[in-house]
Amino acid sequence: MTTASPDRTQQTDTRQRFDMGELAAYHDGPALSDAVATGARVTVTWDDGTQGHFPLLWLRDHCPCAACRHPLTRERLYLPLESISGAPTVSLDDGILRLAWADGHVSHFDPVWLHQRRLEEAGMQQPQALPARRPWASDFRPTRVRHADFLEKQGEREWLEALLRDGLVLLEEGPLADEEVSRLAGRIGPMRATNFGARFDVRSKPNPNNAAYTAIGLALHTDLPNWRQPPDIQLLYCLQNEAEGGESTFADGFAVAEALRDVDPEAFRILAETPIDFRFQDEAHDIAVRAPVIQLDADGNPLEVRFNNWIRDTLRLPLARVEAWYAAYQRFWQMLHDPRHQIEFALEPGQMIAFDNRRVLHGRRAFDPNTGKRHLQGTYLDLDLLESRLRVLAR
Ligand code: OGA
Ligand code: ZN
Ligand code: ZN
Repeated sequence: MTTASPDRTQQTDTRQRFDMGELAAYHDGPALSDAVATGARVTVTWDDGTQGHFPLLWLRDHCPCAACRHPLTRERLYLPLESISGAPTVSLDDGILRLAWADGHVSHFDPVWLHQRRLEEAGMQQPQALPARRPWASDFRPTRVRHADFLEKQGEREWLEALLRDGLVLLEEGPLADEEVSRLAGRIGPMRATNFGARFDVRSKPNPNNAAYTAIGLALHTDLPNWRQPPDIQLLYCLQNEAEGGESTFADGFAVAEALRDVDPEAFRILAETPIDFRFQDEAHDIAVRAPVIQLDADGNPLEVRFNNWIRDTLRLPLARVEAWYAAYQRFWQMLHDPRHQIEFALEPGQMIAFDNRRVLHGRRAFDPNTGKRHLQGTYLDLDLLESRLRVLAR
């Protein structure tokens, strides 16, 4: 703004930023055919016939210039605390929307960037489409991705998309290598540590602090529902599975919760509206939280299932509600373990199962440690980093 031709300078600058910065989501799209200030908004028309209305303060807040967005971090610098005084001069400058504000500031907006952010009367589209969750159908079988393919962009993307969509994906033909699970996890992000460590070994152990570290069967469960935020994603890499038994079982907790809502809405309501206690204790820890078995989001859709009978704590409920809670729990338990909802298969050495621990329940059949060895290595990841990885791979 101190140079002789501030507009030129700023325009060039703005274009560069469209190629790299804030506008990483830049794609081909409609051009702008018209823009006018209408009161406290700017109305723009694209050449595909669509129109958009943008409040002045919204536009000022989203100015992409180097003074309003840090050119390196791309983070917002502008603070929208003042109301806009005076209407800006609105023009189209070589297809770019140009706003000259009353205080002398000038903003440029790319037509496609604006088109992607049209403000609707109600609701807003997600900033960038991630795979939608798809409930398991009765013939659901996990997507399989070969280990060698996972090491390539396309295979990793397939793996991530299946995991976000189905809440479960199987990797196969991997090496029988100690810590392979850590190497694979490391491609996505740092492992999420818990009281069982960042990386844990599942095999029968002499002094188990956890049912998984015995040879007993594990009914369907989610891990660590006693944490305020249980781990999002669990990876279990099979190194040995020669013992008799030990087949893995899974069920889509969200799909079964919806099925419960259909057949027994009262049971569904009780599990969704009744916080109960979960607690894990050993020598070193005492980790407890109070939360419902089925947690719903603001729209009433399942957001999280907490289901783990070993670490369900004393049921502390008003006397009048105890019997009904058990009836609801029994119903959900039976539906989860019903063969129509539960899938079962034996993990082979070199396979890794990954699942959304807050949606999909997992379990295993009992195994006989006298008939052979069974050894899985596991870790957890945060869903944010899976989504991040998918966005980065989609660039
Ligand atoms: C676990 C678990 C399943 C298995 O470690 O949390 O559920 O197959 N293991 O041993
Ligand atoms: Zn600016
Ligand atoms: Zn488990």
